[in-house]
Amino acid sequence: MAERMISDVLTKPDAALEMTLRPAIFSDFTGQAKVKERLEITVAAAKQRNEAIDHILLSGPPGLGKTTIANIIAKAMGSNMKATSGPTIEKAGDLAGLLTNLEEGDVLFIDEIHRLQKTIEEYLYPAMEDFKLDIIIDQGPNARSVRLNLPRFTLIGATTRSGLLTAPLLTRFPVRERLDYYEATQLQKIVMRAANLLNIQMDEGGAMEIARRSRGTPRIANNLLRRVRDYAQVRGDGRVTRDMADKALEILEIDENGLDEMDKRILEAVITKFGGGPVGVSSLAVAVGEEPDTLEEVYEPYLIMEGYLKRTPQGRVATELSYKKLGLQPIAVGQPRLI
Ligand SMILES: Nc1ncnc2c1ncn2[C@@H]1O[C@H](COP(=O)(O)OP(=O)(O)OP(=O)(O)O)[C@@H](O)[C@H]1O
Ligand SMILES: [Mg+2]
Repeated sequence: MAERMISDVLTKPDAALEMTLRPAIFSDFTGQAKVKERLEITVAAAKQRNEAIDHILLSGPPGLGKTTIANIIAKAMGSNMKATSGPTIEKAGDLAGLLTNLEEGDVLFIDEIHRLQKTIEEYLYPAMEDFKLDIIIDQGPNARSVRLNLPRFTLIGATTRSGLLTAPLLTRFPVRERLDYYEATQLQKIVMRAANLLNIQMDEGGAMEIARRSRGTPRIANNLLRRVRDYAQVRGDGRVTRDMADKALEILEIDENGLDEMDKRILEAVITKFGGGPVGVSSLAVAVGEEPDTLEEVYEPYLIMEGYLKRTPQGRVATELSYKKLGLQPIAVGQPRLI
């Protein structure tokens, strides 16, 4: 489906592009002012004491800068960062291998930490708390547990779903920070910086238009920038102005408020297939042909923040704004419906 492909292009990371555009130091990182200040203090304090920094959990929707911040912290500490992710650690031995290869002060970055298997998670507790690792060697009657000392390392965990983290894991992170969607003016700055790095000619109006329609997400803003640049090159003189950006975004079916085809399909399903809701996330996911996880992690948070959807104990409910967006008349709210 064409619309799906557009959504994917905009929300999927492009590894090479992200390497180029990823800010490497705090001062190049725009927005998230409070989070940034607290982390800068944590880093500076640990450096003054010549200690490894406390374990940090970064949470928030995709593309807001969790991996970027982890890299910035490791660099600021002058530490090596080893990166892995929850689903790739399949056996306790994989984790043991990672941990025993760390050096004093290293950062171990575990992306999607909510997807770590519970049995593996349990090995992490003493490692995080006491820098010890209990491993079982041998099998059968010879099996015995050996305790290894680990260097003092820093675990930085990233998750799009902090709600799925178990309490024991959550409480082992002394520092927990949540990233929020960016303001348009902050995204404008991010897009201007990216344009500069990519040698794209763009004025402030063009940057603002992209910023306003990027769902508060730097990754989407950077991806849109490249699509808009293509358009400006082929249909214009290569300069990204407000008008150029507007036309390009229209072709990409990104509307005035930054909603794309998938967002609209979701709202339409809630309203036309489920009478405005409440509808459970799994039924909704089937109706729009998307994974429930993706719906919850990628699409819903923005629709909820912007006031298009409400999350109730019974399920998702469309708001008046959704009806307006789709040009539909809301049915009287709270009226009993025949099912
Ligand atoms: N504050 C920022 N300033 C400038 N660029 C940013 C900022 N935050 C993110 N970016 C850009 O957005 C891209 C995506 O950010 P990042 O990979 O850190 O997101 P993430 O939160 O780790 O996403 P995911 O949950 O998908 O792993 C980065 O490559 C970087 O170019
Ligand atoms: Mg990431």
